[in-house]
Amino acid sequence: MKDLKRVVLAYSGGVDTSVCIPYLREKYGVSEVITYVADLGQGEDLENIRKKALQSGAFKSIIGDLVEPFVNEFAFPAIRANALYGDKYPLSTALARPLIARNLVKIAREFNADAVAHGCTGKGNDQVRFDLNINALGPDLEIITPAREWNMSREEAINYGERFGIPAPVSKKSPYSIDVNLLGRSIEAGDLEDPMSPPSEDIYEMTSSIEEAPDKPEDIVIEFQNGFPVSINEEKLAHLELMKRANLIAGKHGFGRLDMMEDRIVGIKSREIYETPGLLLLIKAHKEMESLTLNPDVLEFKSIVDKKWGQLVYQGFWYGPLKNALDEFIASTQHSVNGLVKIRLHKGNAVITGRSSIQSSLYREDLATYNKDDNFNHDCAKGFIYMWGMSNKIWAESNNNDIK
Ligand code: ARG
Repeated sequence: MKDLKRVVLAYSGGVDTSVCIPYLREKYGVSEVITYVADLGQGEDLENIRKKALQSGAFKSIIGDLVEPFVNEFAFPAIRANALYGDKYPLSTALARPLIARNLVKIAREFNADAVAHGCTGKGNDQVRFDLNINALGPDLEIITPAREWNMSREEAINYGERFGIPAPVSKKSPYSIDVNLLGRSIEAGDLEDPMSPPSEDIYEMTSSIEEAPDKPEDIVIEFQNGFPVSINEEKLAHLELMKRANLIAGKHGFGRLDMMEDRIVGIKSREIYETPGLLLLIKAHKEMESLTLNPDVLEFKSIVDKKWGQLVYQGFWYGPLKNALDEFIASTQHSVNGLVKIRLHKGNAVITGRSSIQSSLYREDLATYNKDDNFNHDCAKGFIYMWGMSNKIWAESNNNDIK
């Protein structure tokens, strides 16, 4: 491999990415490692992490404040798309990757770097997402993945790091692999690797247990405009504030936990625990809003589009042409997704209890009512059913399909 002058490294402050710094210099001949740590609302001390990078030999260490774009450009479109991978997981980790990739490429351009690097290993989804999303935005940039190649155990990586002044982690490492951002927490490994072993209560931070959740239910109303949530309980909130509020309310009542078997991109199944209270609540409410305001054929087709959208994002194709096209379709359906959804939160549940839309409701009480003086033309039903079932009736007659 040619000697690289400057490389931008996606940095988290953990052992693996810290070790990547001297490793890139020693084994890949990189002269300047620029580290990039993204603030996605994970609530860590990023200034400390920034300093740690410099102590580990980084030439420059940058913090990117990505919380606003994360919510506005990634989480909110996912709500419109009702994005649930495997019909369950709202992509809280996956949605962050294309945003980080975009900024790695941006920094690489700004500093005229020859390559970008990340510390993902060879079995997970994130390596795929980083590689594909970086390729999509900077196809000329080389991608270096030391942790996918170095074949060191954790102990060996720590020892290697110590040779370069990277201190071994002081606290005993948690048995879990945890990814955190504003949208939620993903928890894997340790005893969770036995899919039959129930998660212990202490892995959760954003959601209450059923026991600790309030005994009293709480009723809330979420307002949507153009398919985006805009207020909670009549209080207008900017996207970021709204997402935080939804996290707090849902989390308090213990709503938003998932325990699932997940089909990774690389073909293996894994067991993952999630807590994503706000995002799951908002997707549930959004789906309900659509059920009042979209035509049945649009709803049916959009559910196919939504599923595909979620798969594409999970699999690393955020910046691909199909995802772009599906975005346009989804956007074109959302002009009429306006109104209110009422939800009762109680002991791990979020139960829809009402919905309304002044501008966009397709519900017609004068047609649906069971009262006698409705506006539905009952006489038309006979002719409609005659034709609707015609082909089936012909089939039954010609097949002698009667009960013996
Ligand atoms: N399985 C999730 C995804 O692919 C989360 C990955 C990171 N999880 C973790 N526990 N470190 O989006």
